[in-house]
Amino acid sequence: MTRTIRLGVNIDHVATLRNARGGSHPDPLRAARIAVAAGADGITTHLREDRRHISDDDIVRLMAEIAIPLNLEMAATAEMTAIALHHCPHAVCVVPERREERTTEGGLDVTRQRTTLERLTGRMQEAGISVSLFIEPELVQLEAALMVGAPVVELHTGAYCNAIGTSREDELARLATAAAQAVAMGLECHAGHGLDYETVGAVAALSSIAELNIGHFLVGEAIFCGLGDAIQRMRTLIDQARTTTTGSG
Ligand code: PXP
Repeated sequence: MTRTIRLGVNIDHVATLRNARGGSHPDPLRAARIAVAAGADGITTHLREDRRHISDDDIVRLMAEIAIPLNLEMAATAEMTAIALHHCPHAVCVVPERREERTTEGGLDVTRQRTTLERLTGRMQEAGISVSLFIEPELVQLEAALMVGAPVVELHTGAYCNAIGTSREDELARLATAAAQAVAMGLECHAGHGLDYETVGAVAALSSIAELNIGHFLVGEAIFCGLGDAIQRMRTLIDQARTTTTGSG
């Protein structure tokens, strides 16, 4: 089957579990290998300033051992920029990062960080690394992303996943509008955060979205059915949603 939407599997929380005991099990590299076998198109991982899950050594091993694209999520700091330029992953996804947050709680304010992001994007692209900016589904952020020269945006799906009833429909409409606007502006559009079996279909049906990045739910579900099965089921739901609808946006 031809896939028109890519699935990036985020393996951070395999490392969260490993780090709970400070040893080497479960190994995120093993998880990445399982993800490849289960149909992932890319591996996504967030090297946080506090190294709460993925470590520098994990990045070294993933770069050496995994043949599919690595998408390195990172804050726009000098330290992370140097690490990305050293490893040259396929792509970086720039995210806002606050030490006290539990996860990436919102999108970047691209306008506010314009100079930093412009410089970072330029340096990455010179090194052959694709750059995506993790943003809320808002026109002002899309316009700012275009202005700083980023070729890709990733829309934060957290508000959509957390909403219920008509609010969820409203959040989906915001995602659909922003995804269509992104593509009309010439940006590649990705989406992710908080997606699960229930919420993934409507987002995967949006034809403007080229890639989904999903992690926490898959790693949680793996406890019950195994990581390979969880990814395969997600892959099937994504492909079904894309092929059975003519979803705009
Ligand atoms: N995309 C981005 C930019 C993220 O920061 C994260 C979380 O690290 C994800 C996708 C995956 O989110 P989740 O783990 O909730 O599926």
